[in-house]
Amino acid sequence: MRKKTALPLCLCLFKGKLCNISEPEKKRHKMHIRDQERSAMAIMFCFCLFHFLLFSALSAMARDVDLLISFKNSLANPSLLSDWNHAKGVCEFRGIACKAGYVSSLTIHELPLGADFSSVSAHILSIASLETLSLHSINLTGFISTPTKCTAQLKRLDLSSNRLRGSISDAASLAGSCPSLQSLNLSNNSIGQTSYHSCPVPPNLKMLDLSYNKIATNKDIQWLFSKLGILKHLDLSNNNIKGSIPHISNCTFLQYLDLSSNQLSGTVPASTFSNCLNLTYLNISSNHFTGNVPPDIETSMNLVILSLSNNNFSGENPISSLVAMPRLQLLELAINNFSGSLPHSISNLTSLEILDLSANRFSGPIPHSLCTRSVSSLKVLYLQDNYFTGSIPDSLRNCTNLVSLDLSLNFLSGSIPGSLGFLSYLKDLIMWQNYLNGDIPSELSSLKSLKNLILDYNNLTGTIHNGLVNCTNLNWISLASNQLTGSIPIWIGKLENLVILILRNNSLSGSIPQGLGDCKGLVYLDLSSNRLNGSIPPTLAKQSSKIVGGLLVVSWRFIQLRIGNNSQCHGVTTFLEFDGIRSDDLMRLPSTRYCNFLRVYTGSTGDILRSNISMLFLDLSYNQLDGQIPTEISAMQFLGILNLEHNHLSGQLPEKLGDITHLGVLYLSHNMLEGMIPSSFSTLSLSELDLSNNQLYGPIPERGSLITFPAYAFENNSGLCGFPLLPCNGSSISREDRSQLSSTNHQSSQSWQIALGLLFSLFFIIVFVIGQLLKQISVYFGCDYVSVLY
Ligand SMILES: *[C@@H]1O[C@H](CO)[C@@H](O)[C@H](O)[C@H]1NC(C)=O
Ligand SMILES: *[C@@H]1O[C@H](CO)[C@@H](O)[C@H](O)[C@H]1NC(C)=O
Ligand SMILES: *[C@@H]1O[C@H](CO)[C@@H](O)[C@H](O)[C@H]1NC(C)=O
Ligand SMILES: *[C@@H]1O[C@H](CO)[C@@H](O)[C@H](O)[C@H]1NC(C)=O
Ligand SMILES: *[C@@H]1O[C@H](CO)[C@@H](O)[C@H](O)[C@H]1NC(C)=O
Ligand SMILES: *[C@@H]1O[C@H](CO)[C@@H](O)[C@H](O)[C@H]1NC(C)=O
Ligand SMILES: *[C@@H]1O[C@H](CO)[C@@H](O)[C@H](O)[C@H]1NC(C)=O
Ligand SMILES: *[C@@H]1O[C@H](CO)[C@@H](O)[C@H](O)[C@H]1NC(C)=O
Ligand SMILES: *[C@@H]1O[C@H](CO)[C@@H](O)[C@H](O)[C@H]1NC(C)=O
Ligand SMILES: *[C@@H]1O[C@H](CO)[C@@H](O)[C@H](O)[C@H]1NC(C)=O
Repeated sequence: MRKKTALPLCLCLFKGKLCNISEPEKKRHKMHIRDQERSAMAIMFCFCLFHFLLFSALSAMARDVDLLISFKNSLANPSLLSDWNHAKGVCEFRGIACKAGYVSSLTIHELPLGADFSSVSAHILSIASLETLSLHSINLTGFISTPTKCTAQLKRLDLSSNRLRGSISDAASLAGSCPSLQSLNLSNNSIGQTSYHSCPVPPNLKMLDLSYNKIATNKDIQWLFSKLGILKHLDLSNNNIKGSIPHISNCTFLQYLDLSSNQLSGTVPASTFSNCLNLTYLNISSNHFTGNVPPDIETSMNLVILSLSNNNFSGENPISSLVAMPRLQLLELAINNFSGSLPHSISNLTSLEILDLSANRFSGPIPHSLCTRSVSSLKVLYLQDNYFTGSIPDSLRNCTNLVSLDLSLNFLSGSIPGSLGFLSYLKDLIMWQNYLNGDIPSELSSLKSLKNLILDYNNLTGTIHNGLVNCTNLNWISLASNQLTGSIPIWIGKLENLVILILRNNSLSGSIPQGLGDCKGLVYLDLSSNRLNGSIPPTLAKQSSKIVGGLLVVSWRFIQLRIGNNSQCHGVTTFLEFDGIRSDDLMRLPSTRYCNFLRVYTGSTGDILRSNISMLFLDLSYNQLDGQIPTEISAMQFLGILNLEHNHLSGQLPEKLGDITHLGVLYLSHNMLEGMIPSSFSTLSLSELDLSNNQLYGPIPERGSLITFPAYAFENNSGLCGFPLLPCNGSSISREDRSQLSSTNHQSSQSWQIALGLLFSLFFIIVFVIGQLLKQISVYFGCDYVSVLY
């Protein structure tokens, strides 16, 4: 008797009487016996069936428990899964989820089980009801092997972020042995051994993630591309795949293809993607591709995201072949060798939200057709590091959804259109190194979302207008190297979120507003090379020692430049927004030529400013500031660079300056400072010092870092003496003592560096690197381009 009919029969019996089973039914089951016999038999049968079902359920469960527990016992440290024990129901085990009483998924993340794959394969993959197995970051080791039996139910297998080894065909045959598997994630393992046999993509697999592995040649992936099956999502990014792009024979089903961050080279031949009619995501960025944009790419009409960035693609006017893709939302061509001008047909890309053409050789004007449609979806427009000319088109006013605009390092001229004030979502207005003139338009005051206003190296004139007081979200204001006049507005202190204020090399006059000290997060203040007078407000140190966490700063790449020894160029270092700029194109900055810029650090602001730790950088040099150095400055515990040189400062050096324990660079030359160098200075671990051209006298403290500097750091004072200058009357230390001292100092400054690097943000590393580099640079004098990248 078949189960199908037995069950209803059974249910009837439980109701206490035998149901009336219709004649045809009776016939079908050949039940020609009398009612009583029939019922007895049925009762017996049902009893057996019930027991059978119960028993098989219980035994399946018991088997699952056994499998899980034997997996646990195979671990070096089984106590990591201490709640996997017979005292508990299997559905209560850590990481287990059940469906109708059966184990349906096992999820363990970030627990260093240290298991071998064979143990997973032997025990866990044979749990019959398992649908999802997710073992992410559990220190899984060994080779991926084909399990002797993989459960027929398994649909999702995530083994990402482990230390699994094997070849791609091992991965494919693992997938092939699990008949229902739809998604296999092996991201971030060590897969990539050369395979000597190929294994087609299993018939049901839709998602395969092999990113962040060690796949090294295109031979290993070639067969994969020849038998893609119904694969929709294929991620091979961040491997080490060399050779040319594989030939894709049939990609009808492919929707998502990521080959980015590999070593693929050569051209991308026509028809590579021409069959991929369903492709919506294609990322082949960060390889070494050359030649034109894949010729018939526009046949992939459904592309939504296309990234070709960071290759060596070239060719004129690539955009005109891409405008045929109506659904394109993201187009990244950054860091290539594309040239030519932008066609007016760019307005056909009506869905475009992100357009990144930075670091290419595009030229000509920015087309007026951008955002001419009434509703423009454009949010990000990056055209920096190109050769664009002409003025900023007024049509940008119609890009009402624009959030981020970067036009830096081009040849744009004319004034900044006031109509940009209509862009109410604009967060980033970045246009440094162009030939923009005129005022900073007062209409910018309506940009309530503005966070980054970076307009350095232009010809802007006029004053910093008051409207900006309403842009209370401003994080970063950088207006250096323009011709701005007037005073620094007192309302700047009301910009609570201000983190970086750089106004160097303008013609600003008047005094430094006391209110600047109210900016709670100001960590970088550069007002050097202006005409500021009055005294240094002690309130600048008002926020010191207050640590406010959680400053929200968009992560922008920046570059920290050391200014070479040059009379035309003032200051020690300069800080430049550097997102999307090719490092070598720093040479395009006109002032690089006479400032002998040395790149000392590239990083991103998010790293520095994760927590606000009072002022880190203070440069007020080359002004007409007078009065004394306020003692309060010494409260800026975390100050790394203090530059006050070329002012009219007078009075004594505050004893307490020695308390700024993290100070690495101290420049006080060309002032009228008098008195003795406080003995507290011997506790400073400076890597750069200049006290020359003041009216200091008395002995140079013999302990600490001071005597490690050459004589010019102390020259032209009223009467400083002792090493490295002439000995003071009688007492002086010998050269041997000095070298001993200086070597202990180097050790202490080294440990200082390590401690800082560990304890505080990257910024200190910058400060230190600068300091150290300054020393090294003077050694490598002939070398004009030094880079230290972290
Ligand atoms: C990972 O497991 C191996 C043994 O399989 C062990 O030697 C290693 O220390 C473990 N690593 C971590 C980070 O737990
Ligand atoms: C694969 O796993 C990694 C790491 O957990 C994850 O970042 C990635 O999104 C996963 N891939 C897919 C396609 O889900
Ligand atoms: C690709 O394969 C699918 C099914 O596997 C098939 O229907 C389709 O015709 C093939 N396309 C090409 C261009 O060969
Ligand atoms: C493309 O890949 C690169 C490198 O892997 C990655 O940084 C970038 O975010 C990807 N682009 C898109 C649009 O996903
Ligand atoms: C990029 O391609 C150009 C020719 O278009 C070639 O001169 C140059 O050497 C290539 N650069 C790299 C890094 O391959
Ligand atoms: C902005 O769009 C409107 C249509 O919505 C159009 O009439 C106007 O000319 C556009 N402005 C510019 C400067 O392109
Ligand atoms: C700032 O905005 C307020 C209204 O929000 C306005 O009354 C005031 O005039 C604005 N200030 C400036 C200087 O534009
Ligand atoms: C100072 O600004 C002027 C333009 O106002 C520029 O020519 C010069 O290069 C800048 N100097 C430095 C050191 O950047
Ligand atoms: C600062 O300079 C301005 C002229 O630029 C002058 O009017 C003012 O009196 C000076 N202030 C001080 C404190 O010297
Ligand atoms: C000291 O002053 C003299 C004369 O003004 C000048 O030539 C020399 O460069 C100065 N030395 C230093 C280290 O600035």
